[in-house]
Amino acid sequence: MTRGTFSEMTDKGRFECCLGRFTRFLYSNSQKPIKFSSIIKSKMKVKIRKARLSDVQAITDIYNQVILTSTATFDTEPKTIEERRRWLTSRGRRFPVFVGEVDGEVMGWGALSPISERGAYFKTAEVSVYVKEGFRNRGVGRSILQKLIEFAREANFHTLIAQVVKGNEVSVHLLESFGFKKVGTLREIGYKFEKYLDVEVLQLIFD
Ligand SMILES: CC(C)(COP(=O)(O)OP(=O)(O)OC[C@H]1O[C@@H](n2cnc3c(N)ncnc32)[C@H](O)[C@@H]1OP(=O)(O)O)[C@@H](O)C(=O)NCCC(=O)NCCS
Repeated sequence: MTRGTFSEMTDKGRFECCLGRFTRFLYSNSQKPIKFSSIIKSKMKVKIRKARLSDVQAITDIYNQVILTSTATFDTEPKTIEERRRWLTSRGRRFPVFVGEVDGEVMGWGALSPISERGAYFKTAEVSVYVKEGFRNRGVGRSILQKLIEFAREANFHTLIAQVVKGNEVSVHLLESFGFKKVGTLREIGYKFEKYLDVEVLQLIFD
């Protein structure tokens, strides 16, 4: 088969050609090879809704994967379905859990949680978001966080905080894009996978 000139290529061929160059550029400009699949991902249409009891299995599976493989949460032992069911049903109206659904499947969840039982903290909540492995970087986390912030504003919270393990740049980027600001670092406050871990505290104060 003879090779065509560039102008004779099909659209698909041209696209692949450009991808090849783009990939080489990324490899040559980074210390570590960046996985191609983590760069070009189309955003998914995400439906956000309050979590139901029937979501407990999916919520638990998503969270347990993070517990077992990552320092993104400081939980170290997988949760049981029963524990997560209690966690979901005992939250009260001010501290909801939302899920992000794509084509009827739960792809992520996020929660508002109290940061302390002490009364003076009642205008503050902590946000957390977890997206199913394999479906990250497609807009699910952003949609869930947006919903949590909207809910918190309407529920009259004054401020939201997020505690992010140092090095979790995707989380920091996501939070900062909604106006969260880094307010400090708790040094060596966690210990997981045989390493001390710093936590960056980010805060959003509503007007
Ligand atoms: C952090 C997390 C919740 C973000 O959710 P997500 O669905 O993957 O993120 P989104 O697709 O909504 O993307 C949010 C932003 O981060 C960027 N981003 C996401 N993944 C990225 C990656 N792997 N590399 C570079 N940028 C990335 C997106 O481009 C987007 O930025 P933009 O809108 O400015 O373009 C999700 O990746 C996750 O569950 N990670 C593991 C658990 C975790 O870290 N939870 C947070 C604990 S504080």
